[in-house]
Amino acid sequence: MEKMFGLMLLAVVVMITLSACGVFSKKEQPQTTKTILTFLGAPGSGKGTVAEQCVKDLGYATMSTGNLLREAVARGDELGKKAESFMKEGKLVPDELVMALVEEWLTKNMPKISTLVLDGYPRTAAQATLFIDLLKNKFPEVALRVVNIAISDDAIVARLADRLVCSSKPCQAVYSRKLLKDQNNLVCEKCGNPLIRREDDNETVVRNRLKVYADNVDPIIKVYKESGVRFDELNVEGKTVEAVFAEFKKLV
Ligand code: AP5
Repeated sequence: MEKMFGLMLLAVVVMITLSACGVFSKKEQPQTTKTILTFLGAPGSGKGTVAEQCVKDLGYATMSTGNLLREAVARGDELGKKAESFMKEGKLVPDELVMALVEEWLTKNMPKISTLVLDGYPRTAAQATLFIDLLKNKFPEVALRVVNIAISDDAIVARLADRLVCSSKPCQAVYSRKLLKDQNNLVCEKCGNPLIRREDDNETVVRNRLKVYADNVDPIIKVYKESGVRFDELNVEGKTVEAVFAEFKKLV
C-alpha cells in the first residue's frame, strides 16, 4: 500500500514538472526576439516626439505612417494622389492603402530592426486586427506592445498651433515654436531647410482629427485587450518633453 502511494506521488510530481515545462500545452508559443512598440495617442499628443527620442537615446527604429503618406503625397505617386484629399481634411486614409504600405515597409525593414516604434499606426480597429494577424503570420518573432499616450484636447490644440515642421519631406523634423533656439530664423536645426506649419494643423482640421481619433480609440483598445498584448498608459498632460521621456523609459 505504502509502495503504491509512493508511486502515485512520484507520478503526480512528474506530471506537474512536465506540465510546468510546457509539455502538455496545446499551442507552442513562438520565440519572440524583436519588439514593436506601437504608440496610441491623439494627434499632437507627442507620439513623434517620444519616437524621435527613442531613436536618439535608445537606438530604436521608428516608422510613422503619417510621414510615409506625406512623402507619397510630395512624390505625387498613385498612393499619394489617393491619400492627399483625406489627409487635407483630417480624415483617415482608407485601411487597405495603409495596410499595403505598412506590410511593404515591415517586409523590407524588419529584418534589420530589433526594436521598432510605430507612430500613428494602427488607427482603426480593422487596422489593429489586421496588424496583429500580420505579425502572427509573417513576423512571429515580433512581440507587440502598446503605449497609450494620454493628454487633453485643449493641450493638444495649443501644441499644434505652435508646431513647426521641416519642409524637407525626407527630414520632417518637428519643433515647438516657443522652444526654438533662434525664434527669428525659422530653419531646421538638422538640415537647414525652412520650417513650415503642417497643412492639417489649422484649428478646424485639428478638431476634426481629434474627433476621428475619439471615434476610433475605444474599438482599437478593445482589439488590443482581447488579443492580450501588453498595454501601458503614459500620461503626458503638463509634462515637459524630458519628463515624458523619463517616464517612458521606466515603462520599457
Ligand atoms: P500623423 O502624421 O500620424 O499625425 P497625427 O497622429 O495626427 O499626429 P501628429 O504628428 O500630429 O502628432 P504627434 O502625436 O506625433 O505629436 P508631435 O510629437 O508632433 O497623421 C497625419 C494624417 O495622415 C492623418 O490625419 C491621416 O489622414 C493620415 N494617416 C496617418 N496614419 C494613418 C493610418 N494609420 N491610417 C489612416 N490614416 C493615417 O508633437 C506635437 C507638438 O507638440 C510638437 O510641436 C512638439 O514639439 C510638441 N510637444 C511634444 N511633446 C511635448 C511636451 N511634452 N511638451 C510640450 N510640447 C510638446
